[in-house]
Amino acid sequence: MDRWRYYDLTHARHDVMNPMAPARLDELGDALRLEAADRVLDVACGHAELLLRWHARFGVTGVGLDASPFTIARARRRVAERAPGAGIELVHARGEEFAPSERFDVACCVGASWIWGGHAGTLRALTGFVRPSGAVVTGEVYWKEPPPPAYLDYLRADEPETPEVHDLATCHRLALDQGLSLVWFAGSTDAEWDRYELLQSAAVDEFARAHPDDPDLEALVTERRRHDAAYLAHGRRCLGWALWAFRVPR
Ligand SMILES: C[S@@+](CC[C@H](N)C(=O)[O-])C[C@H]1O[C@@H](n2cnc3c(N)ncnc32)[C@H](O)[C@@H]1O
Repeated sequence: MDRWRYYDLTHARHDVMNPMAPARLDELGDALRLEAADRVLDVACGHAELLLRWHARFGVTGVGLDASPFTIARARRRVAERAPGAGIELVHARGEEFAPSERFDVACCVGASWIWGGHAGTLRALTGFVRPSGAVVTGEVYWKEPPPPAYLDYLRADEPETPEVHDLATCHRLALDQGLSLVWFAGSTDAEWDRYELLQSAAVDEFARAHPDDPDLEALVTERRRHDAAYLAHGRRCLGWALWAFRVPR
């Protein structure tokens, strides 16, 4: 089935489309000491929760972009409901093609590092979007322990464009190698991961009951079952998720 539709249906109940409680975004903004004058770029913004929360808490404005037509439509509806006229611009575009005409105070890419081939490429690209002494924010999976070959095979078949996954020490070193300094780090808990994964299964269950004749239903349910099995057998133990913020040099 269409990938954008798969992610739209599986994430229909998520505010934040990553394994971290939305309130952690507030802690991150506090750590960065965001201010109302700050301009924030969020590449692969999902449902625009980061921009909405940071606007509500700190008054920031900014730009979110996402390549999915479904996701950007949901993001636009949410911004229109929660912060109309707030200075949050949403762009339907691929991150790799985005060429902004301004330098931002903070540039984020949470959960879509494949856009620039992985963690190091993402940090480099985001650094190019911010002013000197600005901040870059990434959300990235990492290995908590070495994965068994069966799980690697599953991931490669499921998401062929998934870039290489590192351990935490390597993720940190790749940033230091670019002259970035760590400002904030938060790893998601097992409970946050479980909620992120199982909210997808609950969304599929809800969709299946409401749309039993949908032509994509069988593919949707089959894929979700495979994913649940891989998560419970391996992902929950091996794969971590972390939010990072780094300060760019002057
Ligand atoms: C795991 S979700 C994370 C969304 C959001 N950052 C969040 O944490 O809530 C990944 C997002 O990346 C978007 N995406 C995937 N490929 C993209 C690309 N090439 N350019 C821009 N967005 C992309 C998807 O549509 C999806 O919204």
